[in-house]
Amino acid sequence: MNQSIKRIGIMTGGGDCPGLNAVIRAVTRKAIMENHWEVVGIRDGYNGLYHGNFVDLDLFNTSGILQQGGTILYSSNKDNLFQYQVEENGNKVIRDVSDVGIMNLKQAGIDVLFVVGGDGTLTSARDFSRKGVKVIGIPKTIDNDLASTDATFGFSTAVDVATEALDRLHTTASSHHRIMVLEVMGRYAGWIALHAGIAGGADAILIPEIPYDIDYVAAKIFRRKELGKDFSVIVVAEGAKPKNGEMVVQAVVEDSPDPIRLGGIGAKVAHDLQTLCGNESRATILGHLQRGGSPSSTDRILSSRYGIAAVELAEQGKFGNMVTLRGTQMSYDSLENVIGHKTKNVEPTSELVRAAKSLGIVFGDEKVDVYRVLNQNK
Ligand code: F6P
Repeated sequence: MNQSIKRIGIMTGGGDCPGLNAVIRAVTRKAIMENHWEVVGIRDGYNGLYHGNFVDLDLFNTSGILQQGGTILYSSNKDNLFQYQVEENGNKVIRDVSDVGIMNLKQAGIDVLFVVGGDGTLTSARDFSRKGVKVIGIPKTIDNDLASTDATFGFSTAVDVATEALDRLHTTASSHHRIMVLEVMGRYAGWIALHAGIAGGADAILIPEIPYDIDYVAAKIFRRKELGKDFSVIVVAEGAKPKNGEMVVQAVVEDSPDPIRLGGIGAKVAHDLQTLCGNESRATILGHLQRGGSPSSTDRILSSRYGIAAVELAEQGKFGNMVTLRGTQMSYDSLENVIGHKTKNVEPTSELVRAAKSLGIVFGDEKVDVYRVLNQNK
């Protein structure tokens, strides 16, 4: 046990994802039961740190939350205290107010700050660490795109939700001889689309890492028609783009660390395929359904492990680090390193992409004559 720690704080920042409550519960249980530390929850991410919006956490108010989606501490994907919008003389100006956050931590007697977040939230965590705050980072995002860790919690649940959506789209696609396009989240990474596409038996998977040619996707649909399957199901990552084309931006949220909100590529793909193939086509945007609701069992376990490993790091005095999953083992990496890295993306020549292609799934990067391949095997 680390004798210098008496009281810890925990906050959740950025977009929510299934498993956040499981982390809060794990951190609180181990901190209280094994270390006799006090635990303080910081509400609304960095906004709560700035305003001193704190709540004591105990075994009672963190009980029964393992299976709950969202976060009992609320979250914000704005409020970077190093570039915070404040009003001065009636004008909105950007100021570094991080010292206010540090003062609030001191006043609350918080010795270590546990920050559960993605890229943006952990960038601020690193910056607080640089200013001497004892910080432990815990990675979260449904996008699974954080460097240094093999998997983030929330991803498995998002993939499950997307897979179920594909299953449901299959039956209605088949009934109406339609092309059904499912747009999934993932920001600039295609992990959700790739995994759900394989699990849900999609005919095409379009991801940001592999720009597509719509003619190649249409060719696959024609081949299916020739084989007597006059319907198709396509999964499109929100960040997918055509060769020589751009991602579709749905909105710009000015005061967010990453202001770009993607969305709309699914409708474009559906429209283009209807024009090329003749089948009526529909697009479904799965959106925040992927982030809400109860975490999968995989995510409950992963979140719990992350929480426990984070407290262990604090016990060992290893501040300024983020817990990671490496293979089957919990490990850690310095926040400096994690934030310096590029995001983790799908490798177009990886085993998983090759496996999907071998299953007959097209990515729109090459013309695959599925019909000929099938007939050769007769
Ligand atoms: O990073 C998680 C994520 O859900 C992305 O997949 C998506 O692009 C984005 O957040 C949506 O953000 P918001 O909740 O602000 O619409």
